[in-house]
Amino acid sequence: MKTLMCLYAGLLTLVVGAGTALAQPEFNQVERGRYLAVVGDCSACHTADPAKPFAGGFRIDTPFGALLGANITPDVVTGLGTWTFGDFQRAMSEGIGHRGKRLYGAMPFTAYTKMTQQDDRDLWAYLQTLQPIANNVHTNQLPFPFNIRTSLLVWNWLNFNKGEFKPDPVQSALWNRGAYLVEGPGHCGTCHTPKNTLGGDKNSQFLRGNNLGVWWAPDITNNNHTGIGQWTNDDLVNYLRTGVNRFSIASGPMAEEIENSSRHWHDADLKAVAVYLKSVNSLQPSPLALGASDSRMVAGKAIYSDNCSACHNDSGTGEPGTFPRLAGNPLIRATNPTSLAHMVLTGGGRTGSTDSRPTAPAMPSFARDLNDQQVADVLTYIRNSWGNAAQPVKAAEVARLRKNLQP
Ligand code: HEC
Ligand code: HEC
Ligand code: HEC
Repeated sequence: MKTLMCLYAGLLTLVVGAGTALAQPEFNQVERGRYLAVVGDCSACHTADPAKPFAGGFRIDTPFGALLGANITPDVVTGLGTWTFGDFQRAMSEGIGHRGKRLYGAMPFTAYTKMTQQDDRDLWAYLQTLQPIANNVHTNQLPFPFNIRTSLLVWNWLNFNKGEFKPDPVQSALWNRGAYLVEGPGHCGTCHTPKNTLGGDKNSQFLRGNNLGVWWAPDITNNNHTGIGQWTNDDLVNYLRTGVNRFSIASGPMAEEIENSSRHWHDADLKAVAVYLKSVNSLQPSPLALGASDSRMVAGKAIYSDNCSACHNDSGTGEPGTFPRLAGNPLIRATNPTSLAHMVLTGGGRTGSTDSRPTAPAMPSFARDLNDQQVADVLTYIRNSWGNAAQPVKAAEVARLRKNLQP
């Protein structure tokens, strides 16, 4: 019996060895690495031209100037062709790149540092299987003095906590997996955690909402008012899987994140993220709603019934899966109304939609029909109706955004 099994195993290796380029364990490692590249959404910043995946050149605008994603294909001259695993591990965990240069935080190594060495190994195995593409990218487009990399020594000292994720033994395996994904490869805080004046994360306000310029990445803590406190685990999984749930429909950078990344995550991983996010608490005081007789509310209500109620309904309930709810939707109550004003001015510019609603009608742009005061009033109205309560919106905020949205 034993010899028979050995024979059988031998045969199997022969068959596999002959038919495929990679032995089975290596194949599995590359597949795990491919998945991690999706979870880490590397292509979001490292692919500018879909015909040249991972060859770099994608422009990232920061408050300090622009950076371009590097070429991370195995091209010997312009990519990572001469790198060892040690070089790669150093980039991911310490933010040190080609020839020892310090990397800017636009490369989210402050999150990737939490990845396990095994995950880095798998990711590296995958990157080495990519087609080498020659593409010379000068990543540093920052103006003086931000273009001087030695300043990053100070930046790192102030803003960077190096080190792998440490599981919390008191918490479940599912919770720890969720924490690992959110804080590490998923780098959710890159967009959702507020930044200090140097662009570093305010860790004490982890995931409590952050200004991305022309979008607002909302509070995704379990806060009942501004966060996802009223969402169930299933609501969160549905949102991250399809971009739609009974409260909200994702737009802008989050729609892209879902399209390229979280839509492809394993179910168990999305569940883990939900369990973890539901445990992140923040106590932010909720404001009182403006009275219905406030002049901004009266003006906003009239604009709403003329322009918005056909889709979002008089009572702000929307149409499940097609038109988002405005009542009880945390995004509407966000401390910062940038994403809301962006939606009304541009309609969100929806591009590729996710699986679940390929033909749903999009939100129209109101940039021409409504002036700054009218946009402000209609937003003040939806932020303070149907149980919502939030700071009123000022015409000057809308004017500023309108200017920044001009190409
Ligand atoms: C939010 C944008 C962003 C994401 C997401 C991102 N990167 Fe980067 N990456 C950058 C930028 C920008 C640079 C160049 C930084 C610099 O020059 O200081 C960079 C540099 C690098 C470098 C150093 C290259 C060199 O020549 O020194 C490596 C390696 C790298 N990234 C790997 C990855 C991997 C792997 C992922 C996914 C797990 C990833 N990056 C995700 C923006 C990003
Ligand atoms: C590139 C920036 C970016 C990244 C990375 C990102 N988000 Fe978002 N996220 C946003 C923006 C912007 C919105 C608001 C979308 C809108 O206006 O419809 C958002 C919305 C959300 C919402 C809906 C909140 C609400 O009240 O409607 C959830 C939940 C969420 N993100 C979770 C995550 C998780 C989990 C991760 C990490 C796996 C993540 N996001 C990574 C930018 C980002
Ligand atoms: C023709 C139907 C339609 C009309 C009219 C309309 N919307 Fe929308 N609205 C949508 C759709 C669809 C979305 C989801 C965004 C997407 O698909 O990218 C949306 C999204 C939004 C969002 C973001 C909600 C979220 O959870 O991300 C806000 C805020 C919003 N609309 C406000 C308004 C206001 C204010 C008006 C009137 C000035 C208005 N809408 C008129 C269809 C409409």
